[in-house]
Amino acid sequence: MDILKRISEQRAHEESLRWEGTFADYLKIVEEKPHVAGTAHSRVYNMIKSAGVEEGEDGTSEYKFFSHELYGLDRAIERLVEDYFHSAAKRLDVRKRILLLMGPVSGGKSTIVTMLKKGLERYSRTEEGAVYGIKGCPMHEEPLHLIPDELRADFEEEYGVKIEGNLCPSCQLMLEREYDGKVEDVVVERVFLSEDKRVGIGTFSPSDPKSQDIADLTGSIDFATIAEYGSESDPRAYRFDGELNKANRGLMEFQEMLKCDEKFLWNLLSLTQEGNFKAGRFALISADELIVAHTNESEYRSFISNKKNEALQSRMIVMPVPYNLSVSKEEKIYQKLIKQSDIGHLHIAPHALRSAAIFSILTRLKESKKQGVDLLKKLKLYDGKTVEGFKLADVEELHNEFSDEGMSGIDPRYVINRISSALINTDRNYINALDVLRSIKDGLDSHPSITNEIKEKYLNFISVARKEYDELAKKEVQKAFVYSYDESAKALLDNYLDNVEAYCNKQKLKDPLTGDEIEPDEKLMRSIEEQIGVSENAKKAFREEILIRISAYARKGKRFDYNSHERLREAIQKKLFADLKDVVKITTSTKTPDENQLKKINEVINRLVEEHGYTAASANDLLRYVGSLLNR
Ligand SMILES: Nc1ncnc2c1ncn2[C@@H]1O[C@H](COP(=O)(O)OP(=O)(O)OP(=O)(O)O)[C@@H](O)[C@H]1O
Ligand SMILES: [Mg+2]
Repeated sequence: MDILKRISEQRAHEESLRWEGTFADYLKIVEEKPHVAGTAHSRVYNMIKSAGVEEGEDGTSEYKFFSHELYGLDRAIERLVEDYFHSAAKRLDVRKRILLLMGPVSGGKSTIVTMLKKGLERYSRTEEGAVYGIKGCPMHEEPLHLIPDELRADFEEEYGVKIEGNLCPSCQLMLEREYDGKVEDVVVERVFLSEDKRVGIGTFSPSDPKSQDIADLTGSIDFATIAEYGSESDPRAYRFDGELNKANRGLMEFQEMLKCDEKFLWNLLSLTQEGNFKAGRFALISADELIVAHTNESEYRSFISNKKNEALQSRMIVMPVPYNLSVSKEEKIYQKLIKQSDIGHLHIAPHALRSAAIFSILTRLKESKKQGVDLLKKLKLYDGKTVEGFKLADVEELHNEFSDEGMSGIDPRYVINRISSALINTDRNYINALDVLRSIKDGLDSHPSITNEIKEKYLNFISVARKEYDELAKKEVQKAFVYSYDESAKALLDNYLDNVEAYCNKQKLKDPLTGDEIEPDEKLMRSIEEQIGVSENAKKAFREEILIRISAYARKGKRFDYNSHERLREAIQKKLFADLKDVVKITTSTKTPDENQLKKINEVINRLVEEHGYTAASANDLLRYVGSLLNR
């Protein structure tokens, strides 16, 4: 890649996007593309939607704008987009509220805000997301504000575009002095939102309440020029450079809003409610921007418990951002965070992240009152796994049982810190699930917000995660022992299905060697069915159900394979493993392997390395561990 060339190409591209014209030219653009004159809220909504929406299996919408970086938050994001952004885009009242994201630490609140900011920067550089402003306006304000009040109703009717807000003091003066009041001549330019350049994107972070200056939000008198212009109410003697000014047309992030002095927040009240704020000696200044703040639950509770905050509270829309509750997604979060860190190149054995994820999700789940659902089952259901006796509707019901599930528990950063610590402290060149779980356990003692009672609970979750890992480890090794697992499973399945078909249709089979007609192999069928506890009495129904499933597949033109029926898959797997058990047990636990065993071990290790992502050392380690498990 020639970076210098790319840089100059990019610059040329930016240059090509620039546009400048008169207000009269701008009106033509508005006529053609009325959305350019939309509100900041509608721009954000269009931006999110333009990235695409997909319907997930469980009916939740997946907004692509967020889902490539935020995992497992589809429900929260769907609510955020539909209840807030969509309504706000339609100029409903929620637009006039501050959006307050509330959620536990490291749950993705700041990430959401950052994505919105970065997204707006990019979007304003696209055709659909183009923004225009009055050239020279410190707030890059909407040029339509130039249209006098009396004419707006007619304009709206003709163009189908609503105008809200009044010309800022600086533009008013400019219109008189530089354009002699001729609105049509005013120069308009395309505006590119940029946080670095403070265009349309602002961030406000409160400092010490005593020294906090409202000027940070609304701008201040310019003492350098005041002598020249002689009056504080001359816009030329005022710097419209507060965050509220700068974020006009886009978004302002209000960090630690609830830590802010309440007097300070009054300005926000007016801005959010009326769409304008007071600055210096000027009439109210219009602003069109999305204000996003974030907080955690306890801070929010203490904020609303204070009566004085009632007025503010009613001007906020609180959107919960809980932790992800799916194990697979949690694994993806860890992978992402590890990739971003400087431990990305070290080897973490397969299932290590999954085991940590199982632990994390367990700490976030709430015990259901539904019959027969324990935390582990719930965890599997939430991860999209099939659990005997539960349907999709049950999962939905579980999700709706608690409104505050996921608002507490272990945060992803804690786990990443423990994984780093395990990697730093190991004397091998890799870590595995056991190392990670041990490190998580060791860290609990120094975790600031964990009481003894919670610690007990968490230790229990660690052992649940460990047991789950043991099962995964055993399966992995057993699979690696079967020469080409998929083929063996398929052969066994085909054999079983041939027999089941003959049994149900009361037919005979042909012996492949002699060509003789033979009875269905009852012993083979039972040896598979027994693996999943199908009783002698239930076998007929089970076999018929399988045949029905096969013909249902055939009707849809789909192939029935061993993944098509969850229980049958399990039965086949268990049968294969049962046949192998002794070989695995003896081979993995022997201290002095003979030549044959040694050959087998090497084969298995090779398969683990080549097909399952282990290193030779971590595969060896896994074999020894599984050997000890099987001999317990
Ligand atoms: N569901 C998730 N999907 C992907 N990444 C996530 C998720 N939750 C958290 N993260 C990652 O974890 C890190 C911490 O998240 P972030 O800083 O956004 O959290 P926060 O809610 O703002 O936390 P805090 O309350 O500490 O400010 C980020 O790198 C973020 O990308
Ligand atoms: Mg944050």
